[in-house]
Amino acid sequence: MPRFLRRQPPPADPRVLVEEHLEAGRPTGWFEPLYARARGDAGAVPWAELTAHPYVVDWLDDPVVAPPGRRAVVVGCGLGDDAAELARHDFEVVAFDVAPTAVAWAQKRFRRTPVEWRVADLLDLPDDLVGGFDLVVEVRTVQSLPGVVRDAAMHAVGTLCAPGGVVVAVTLVAGSDAVSRTWQGPPWVQSPSELAAYRAAGLERVALEHPDPDERGVMEVRLTMRRPGPA
Ligand SMILES: C[S@@+](CC[C@H](N)C(=O)[O-])C[C@H]1O[C@@H](n2cnc3c(N)ncnc32)[C@H](O)[C@@H]1O
Repeated sequence: MPRFLRRQPPPADPRVLVEEHLEAGRPTGWFEPLYARARGDAGAVPWAELTAHPYVVDWLDDPVVAPPGRRAVVVGCGLGDDAAELARHDFEVVAFDVAPTAVAWAQKRFRRTPVEWRVADLLDLPDDLVGGFDLVVEVRTVQSLPGVVRDAAMHAVGTLCAPGGVVVAVTLVAGSDAVSRTWQGPPWVQSPSELAAYRAAGLERVALEHPDPDERGVMEVRLTMRRPGPA
């Protein structure tokens, strides 16, 4: 077949996809078609950097607080780099994502890395994931969900954590609530006040680390939290 006939159509504009799904009341519905339309080209996945997030790498090298055990879960694992990094640090890792194409892609990239890859929805967690982890890692997933489901998402992140366990979240936060009110997503920057939802989920804040807000008034923060209780 001539080459030009085999050429694939370019991936759809992610914003059009996002709008379509949000209007239809499906806040997480746009992830799967975005990954599927990328057809294995990570360049078409706007957040894919094909490397573990530097905040996660630093945290693992020098944890703010040591998790009580080695069971770890990665929320919204995308193409799998953070999960693979945890496995390299001898954690027993479960990594899940709502998008089956992302999970299959991650599994293929890290086929020799011992990670349990799962298709699962943070907003409707399977019972066996609840409360079972010493370390919960959330990188840029909550910020990719619109405000209407974000409290529920933060609550669900908290429920993954066992008593005595630790949660590390990396997310974009506005320097003030005023900046977050005018911000156009995705990603939807979190407002400083909404991070309190983690407290309502039973987590205590241990550290909030971040650079100064950039020229847009936002900063990427690393939040370390702990669920009180015996390990
Ligand atoms: C912005 S991407 C970040 C991916 C990865 N954590 C990273 O930093 O490269 C957000 C990821 O969360 C996943 N996701 C969104 N909503 C989810 C949900 N409710 N449950 C599980 N995964 C979800 C998406 O499919 C996507 O892979």
